[in-house]
Amino acid sequence: MSNIKCDIADPSLAEAGKENILFADREMKVLEQIRNRFSEEKPLEGVRLSACLHVTTETANLMRTLKAGGADVVLCASNPLSTKDDVAAALVEEYDIPVFAIHGEDRETYYSHINAAIEHKPQITMDDGADLVSTILKEYPDLAENLIGSTEETTTGVIRLRAMANNDVLEFPVIAVNDAKTKHMFDNRYGTGQSTIDGILRATNILLAGREFVVAGFGWCSQGIAMRAEGMGANVTVCEVDPLRALEAHMSGYDVKPMSEAAEEGDVFVTSTGDISVIRREHFEKMKDGAIVANSGHFNVELDLEDLADMAVNKRQVKPSVEEYKLQDGRSIFVLGEGRLVNLAAAEGHPAEVMDMSFANQALSAEHLAKEAAELEHTVHSVPQPIDERIAELRLAASGIEIDQLTTKQKEYLESWQMGT
Ligand code: ADE
Repeated sequence: MSNIKCDIADPSLAEAGKENILFADREMKVLEQIRNRFSEEKPLEGVRLSACLHVTTETANLMRTLKAGGADVVLCASNPLSTKDDVAAALVEEYDIPVFAIHGEDRETYYSHINAAIEHKPQITMDDGADLVSTILKEYPDLAENLIGSTEETTTGVIRLRAMANNDVLEFPVIAVNDAKTKHMFDNRYGTGQSTIDGILRATNILLAGREFVVAGFGWCSQGIAMRAEGMGANVTVCEVDPLRALEAHMSGYDVKPMSEAAEEGDVFVTSTGDISVIRREHFEKMKDGAIVANSGHFNVELDLEDLADMAVNKRQVKPSVEEYKLQDGRSIFVLGEGRLVNLAAAEGHPAEVMDMSFANQALSAEHLAKEAAELEHTVHSVPQPIDERIAELRLAASGIEIDQLTTKQKEYLESWQMGT
């Protein structure tokens, strides 16, 4: 058994974890190419890197890549329910990577794991939701000095980091991986779309065809959820606060209405807005008996479960990932995955093929920080466009897809303004 410092559930799961990691790796061809180059060039040699990500097979392949690049990596969980204990075990036992993550850990353990990752004194942090950076700034301000930069995986984290930049508290550059096109157009839309439906079905095994399916939000993630629910035959209603997105949902063919109306009609509700108390007492009060409620936004704040607990006379676990809240009037409302990201709490998160591009962005952004951080302003930056475009090219090549090239005549046409009708 490994004697590296770590906190995981069960080291004996390592062999199964390794099989799962290598199975996912077959789908992660872009990351594999980066790993091969990193092994030779060692662009992260000696860099202490702490990552706070969902501990999944895909993340394991990112950690292997960073380590191959020479980084001294430590991983902690970015959500108490998303950790796959076999993956954590394999990272420690098979790949010698310290992991602090246990599936189902309580809040105190979750933060003790974040603190362990911070005590690694990272020079680069990699966040999914900005918990590492915000804990460093709040509780370890002296360690901010060591930081040459950070990367951030998700929409919610980027919003938090922009708020830090606006408050002038960011003392290092941050790269918003989420904003790369090869991240949000694929991971957020197709990844969240498929894996959210997967989580709902694994937890409940309900038939979606013919059901009233309510999606709160119409950003990239919620668009993917609505699209896939529709594909399974559900009647989809979208609730939005942004007029442009609401219009987009309407013209995509969905019913658009306020949650106060949708609450009465829905069989299944999914939130993915990034905001708090999106479904609350006034909505639970109107729901049908048997309504199923889930969240696919980053934090577990979108469903106001305090309101629901307050209204309930009884709460019990019906089966894994499904809790029944029994209300005074006899209705039952079923909450999936404790209101945490249902795609990771009740399923395995996004498929490896989309995580391949997201994590290629992470690996190349870490390399970019290691080389260029001194030149970057202390604010939130995009992934450089050449990196984004290269990842798309590599992903197409990995999928065996060739595309057309512009002819010289076409290039000249695009560059000229004189030519008209
Ligand atoms: N976020 C969503 N799905 C994920 C996955 N499979 N691995 C890591 N982070 C994720």
